[in-house]
Amino acid sequence: MIDLRELEALEARWKEPGDSPLLPDAYGFQAFRIPDFLRLLAVAVMAVAPMRSFLDAGCGIGTKVLIARDMFGLDAAGIDVVPSYVEEAGRLGLGGMVALVDVREFGGYGEQDIVYCYGPFREPDAQAAFEKRLHAAMRPGSILIAVMPTLKPRGWECLFRVPWQGVWRKPTERG
Ligand SMILES: C[S@@+](CC[C@H](N)C(=O)[O-])C[C@H]1O[C@@H](n2cnc3c(N)ncnc32)[C@H](O)[C@@H]1O
Repeated sequence: MIDLRELEALEARWKEPGDSPLLPDAYGFQAFRIPDFLRLLAVAVMAVAPMRSFLDAGCGIGTKVLIARDMFGLDAAGIDVVPSYVEEAGRLGLGGMVALVDVREFGGYGEQDIVYCYGPFREPDAQAAFEKRLHAAMRPGSILIAVMPTLKPRGWECLFRVPWQGVWRKPTERG
């Protein structure tokens, strides 16, 4: 049984005081609020059934991967660039589901039903370059949950939006 208060406490323990310990233009682990994440993921999952695969691009210690798997039954995975975060995800029982991969080098965005990202870049140009590539790589009909996006996905259907948070669906037809 998943204990959300325990996950919140774990996220608080891992919160980075500054930016990424590895990349100068990126954030370190700062967890998105779990209640807000549940709201966004519920919108995404309800949007098109059946939604199966979920990726957290810049997943930190993997708490959102765990929630997507254990509360929503998704085939969930995550990637992050900081080894200690990925090791902690392994201790959470996410070994094999969370991998040490740079979001700029990941080649599997087109295989996901739902891609979730919070940042991960602190520099607007780096974030915009990442988002542009992500938008192009995602498959038609798939859902993007974005926290702090720099670009609005142009021509995508907006399913939910509050400042700095959105859920969008990539159009299935061109034009
Ligand atoms: C703001 S935290 C979000 C953590 C988690 N997704 C959440 O919503 O609670 C951003 C995460 O992105 C990771 N990150 C930053 N740059 C990255 C990159 N180039 N490739 C993979 N992960 C990256 C950081 O290590 C950090 O864990």
